[in-house]
Amino acid sequence: MSVLPSLGNGKITVPGILQRKSGNHSQNSTPQKITCLTAYDYPTARLLDEAGVDILLVGDSLAMVVLGYESTLPVTMEEMLHCTRAVRRGTRRALLVADMPYGSYHDDPAQAVRNAVRFVKEAGAEAVKLEGGERRLDLISRLVDAEVPVMGHIGLTPQSVNAFGGFRVQGKTEEAGERILRDARAVEAAGAFSIVLESIPRELAARITAEVKIPTIGIGAGPDCDGQVLVIHDMLGMSFGHRPKFARRYAEVGEQISRAAAEYCRDVQQGTFPSDAESYHASAEQHAAPVARRG
Ligand code: KIV
Repeated sequence: MSVLPSLGNGKITVPGILQRKSGNHSQNSTPQKITCLTAYDYPTARLLDEAGVDILLVGDSLAMVVLGYESTLPVTMEEMLHCTRAVRRGTRRALLVADMPYGSYHDDPAQAVRNAVRFVKEAGAEAVKLEGGERRLDLISRLVDAEVPVMGHIGLTPQSVNAFGGFRVQGKTEEAGERILRDARAVEAAGAFSIVLESIPRELAARITAEVKIPTIGIGAGPDCDGQVLVIHDMLGMSFGHRPKFARRYAEVGEQISRAAAEYCRDVQQGTFPSDAESYHASAEQHAAPVARRG
């Protein structure tokens, strides 16, 4: 049995994402921006898919926002596969992209291909994402040769947190900007179908977006990218600690959860939950029956 949904009408595909940038819109009409959000579980995937989000990304950010680690580095292949399967079960229309975790593609290229193929075969991902530009050129080409579509990720690459000395905006100097531009060209030349641009100046993101033919998906990269991505816990108000300025909050779900839990505790303690209407009742017959005597 296939883990993939059938490619019915409206299904978002890799060629469909490429086409958003490349074609089929008239000179004067602007192409429709690509929407992407992270998802790590079945109910969230269902809700986002039904809301019309184009790409669901099982990001390795799950290490931080779901598992409570300080960085994305500790999350494992097995944890990423487990969550990708759950998201697969909740996704029909959106394109499902799985993030390759730190250590799963950094050593042996053959093992990197095997790990990427696991996301497709075992978890139903339709593409993988990996971090890095010029130095990933060969690896991205190998994955594309193995029929695994690749989303690149350059700029602030969180798996480089130790090398960067923290989560810092990248590409602020001319030299650093040129390096990121070379990264974008390399990711495109290697055959990736899109690139995440994370935490770079909007002017640089606009330049990259104008130059490369594949769609750019920005996070902290300004409004000129071909699409945008946010971490779902950030946009729903369910994350803790530093909030980057680009992480606009669309809801305060964290506050609602806290309020609901406190109300529940109060009701249980005051004996107002559960009420009689929320209780099951014995049948009249059972009520009337005398209790059998033992012994
Ligand atoms: O892991 C993740 O959620 C990501 C997005 C922020 C692009 O890489």
